[in-house]
Amino acid sequence: MTATTALRSEHERILSVIACLRLAGDAARRKDGFDADTFRQGLDFIRNYADAWHHAKEEVHLFPALEAAGMPRDGGPVGVMLHEHEIGRSHIGVMAEHLEAAAEGDDPARAKVVEHALAYADLLEAHIQKEDGILFNMADQVLPPEEHERLEEAYRTAIPNGADADTGTRYEELARTLCERWQIDPDERRSLPGGFGCHGT
Ligand SMILES: [Fe+2]
Ligand SMILES: [Fe+2]
Repeated sequence: MTATTALRSEHERILSVIACLRLAGDAARRKDGFDADTFRQGLDFIRNYADAWHHAKEEVHLFPALEAAGMPRDGGPVGVMLHEHEIGRSHIGVMAEHLEAAAEGDDPARAKVVEHALAYADLLEAHIQKEDGILFNMADQVLPPEEHERLEEAYRTAIPNGADADTGTRYEELARTLCERWQIDPDERRSLPGGFGCHGT
């Protein structure tokens, strides 16, 4: 176990929900129906698990530890990751703004929700590739052993945004529900080594 083990496994769960959102978005674009429940539950998951739970742990615990270990925040991979978290939040905001109108059948609102769900999927898949393939490998090397232990403990006992272990369990169940609906294997490994040069970063 290292300071990135738990975060890497959260990535797999996030990628499985993103795969569901992608299928729902593609179906809506083919005019095969707008599955409001999937977008509502998917938005709940990416807002409260991918962002308020997972990204917050990176921002509150891991990234400051990397800075303390000498990895510069600005102009380096940590700065890129923080910027991408912000872009993700803007997609979440637009989805939330249009979701209820979309659920009631408003076509322009549906198009907005789908556009930003798919943009979020593209962003997070590339983001997770960079973390799993590069940044987390660097973290595993630069952090001293006692920092790995401290961070593992902090992820469990000082979860940001008032979340607790029940929050994780609840969203793991939500991820399983979505994966069943869209016939996605939640345990399939989806993350691949990536690079910092792709997707406009
Ligand atoms: Fe991240
Ligand atoms: Fe992450």
